Amino acid sequence: MSTNPTPTLDALLRGAATRIDATDARWLLAHAVERPQGWLYAHARDPAPAGVAERFDTLVARRAAGEPVAYITGVQGFWGCEFAVTPATLIPRPETERLVELALAHLPARGGRLADLGTGSGAIALAVARERPDVAVLATDASEVALAVARANAQALGLSRVRFAQGDWYAPLSDERVDVIASNPPYIEAADPHLAQGDLRFEPPTALASGADGLDAIRVLAQGARAHLVPGGWLLVEHGWNQGAAVRALFAGAGLREVATERDLEARDRVTLGRAPGAAEAG
Ligand SMILES: C[S@@+](CC[C@H](N)C(=O)[O-])C[C@H]1O[C@@H](n2cnc3c(N)ncnc32)[C@H](O)[C@@H]1O
Repeated sequence: MSTNPTPTLDALLRGAATRIDATDARWLLAHAVERPQGWLYAHARDPAPAGVAERFDTLVARRAAGEPVAYITGVQGFWGCEFAVTPATLIPRPETERLVELALAHLPARGGRLADLGTGSGAIALAVARERPDVAVLATDASEVALAVARANAQALGLSRVRFAQGDWYAPLSDERVDVIASNPPYIEAADPHLAQGDLRFEPPTALASGADGLDAIRVLAQGARAHLVPGGWLLVEHGWNQGAAVRALFAGAGLREVATERDLEARDRVTLGRAPGAAEAG
């Protein structure tokens, strides 16, 4: 017969904080009790409900073994929404919100079309669709499994008008032209040691690495942009902090105009933009 008293939620948190980051522990305990994090503050001294201590211990062990919190809980916040994520999708990053802001700023004032190439969980496409119900949004990915997650996110967010299509970069667009192409493609160098460290070990390699210099996908995106943009339309691509000059050269070499790199909140090069010729005619 066990004489151990039921631990309080606070005691569980304190115990976990010796094994994993305290913020991660709070996310995982909220997940274990199936309540929002705020609830934990009001109920810190409550005894843990039946089964929670065991469930939480399993979650903490997974995190201690390196698994990202988002894959353990199955959700990640992005653009104020909750996105389902699985090991088939990249975990959306806060810096990608900069790409969303820029995409919104480069859409026509009314209507227009946007393609999010390599949509993963659907983060970029669905954030834009949420802000601009008047824009026709197409989201593509090479991974059918990732697209299934993105479609489920669209459904959950009430954005089922967003279209999804599977295929290699521009293939799903066929002869369709759009006003804005936005992409956060894989851009890490294939031999980068970070791929074997931390959370990156758990994310899909096809979402992360792109050839020896990390620029294979961006080369394809730059080369194909003019054939898939309306005159004066914009290509916006997220990339690594040290790739700005190389990406600008690729954009200029592909005949794009007004090429520039925007920085993220930490003042690092993050998104390069370029415009298809014909802006004057497009107005
Ligand atoms: C860095 S992840 C970005 C995911 C999502 N857009 C985000 O920002 O969270 C890159 C995405 O590109 C997709 N991808 C990789 N190669 C591709 C290809 N050849 N054609 C289309 N998508 C591709 C991956 O499956 C992955 O979902």
